[in-house]
Amino acid sequence: MKVLVATEKPFAAVAVDGIRKVVEDAGMELVLLEKYASRGDLLAAVADADALIIRSDKVDAEVFAAAPKLKVVVRAGAGYDNVDLAAATAHDVCVENTPGQNSNAVAELVFGLAVMAARNMYDGTSGWELRGKRLGIHAFGQVGRNVARIARGFEMEVSALDPFCPDEVIAAAGVKPVRSVEELYADNRVVSLHIPATDETRRSVGYDLITRLPKGGVLVNTARKEVIDEEGLARALADRQDLKYVADIRPDNADKLLAEFPGRVFFTPKKMGAQTAEANINAGIAAARQVVDFLVNGVDKYRVNR
Ligand code: 3PG
Repeated sequence: MKVLVATEKPFAAVAVDGIRKVVEDAGMELVLLEKYASRGDLLAAVADADALIIRSDKVDAEVFAAAPKLKVVVRAGAGYDNVDLAAATAHDVCVENTPGQNSNAVAELVFGLAVMAARNMYDGTSGWELRGKRLGIHAFGQVGRNVARIARGFEMEVSALDPFCPDEVIAAAGVKPVRSVEELYADNRVVSLHIPATDETRRSVGYDLITRLPKGGVLVNTARKEVIDEEGLARALADRQDLKYVADIRPDNADKLLAEFPGRVFFTPKKMGAQTAEANINAGIAAARQVVDFLVNGVDKYRVNR
C-alpha cells in the first residue's frame, strides 16, 4: 500500500519522520511530495496512491479521477473546505480530518496578532493592553476553546457565539454565551473569527458586522479569507479609521488594503497558524494513524463525507 503525503506547505521534518514511522511500521510505503510546483505533479503522484495525507492542498474531482486506487484522504488539520467531498463520495473515497490536533498553535497566533494590533503594529507609539478588554469568539470549536483558555491568562472578558454549541458548554469554559452575531461584534473590542468556510458562511462577515465593533476594535482572522466580504471590509476600514484587521490569510485585495490603510491591517505572508513543529507532529501523526486504521481496520471515526 502506498501512502502519499502531498503538502505544498511542508510539515516540519520531525513530523515527517513520525509519519514515516507510523506508515512503515504498518508495512506500508511512504511517498513524499512536498512544495510541489504544479498541479501536474500532484496528479501524477496520486496515480498509484492508496491513501493521501494533505494540508490545505486542493483535492478536487480532477485529483480523484487521477487516483483510481485511492481509498482514503486525511486532511492533517481541521478545515476541509479544500476537498471536494461530493467527488470523494462519488469515487468511494473516505475523507477525514484530524480535529483539535493543531488548534493550540492557531489559538496562540490569535494572540500574536491581537497584541500586534493593540501595540499599533509595533510602530513605537503607545498602544493598549488586552487585560480587562472584551474578547468575542466567533464559533466555539477546538480553536475557539483554546483561544478562551489562553484569554484567561490575559485577564480578558470572554464571550462566544456558536449556534452549534450548547450554552452550557460555553459557560462551563468560563465564557459568556452570546445570542446574536450582531451582539458579538458590537460588544467586543477584539473579535476572533473561527467559523469554517461553508456555503452559509462565505462572505458572511462584511461591512455591517465589522462597523458594529466598538471604538478601536480589532478583527482577528485565523480562519479563512472566504468568510470575509472583502469589499465590505475595505469600506468598513475606510469609514471607521479606528478599526484594525489582522489576519493569517492574505485577502485577495491585500495590496489595496495595505496601501490604503497602512498600520491598520496586517497579513502573514503564508497561512501559518498551524505551522509549528508541535502542530505538524500532532496533526501529521494523527493523520498517519487514521490512514493506517482505515486501511487495516476500516475505522472511519473522523470521516467527514458520507
Ligand atoms: C486547518 O484548517 O487545520 C488550518 O487552517 C491549518 O491549515 P494548514 O495545515 O494548511 O496550515
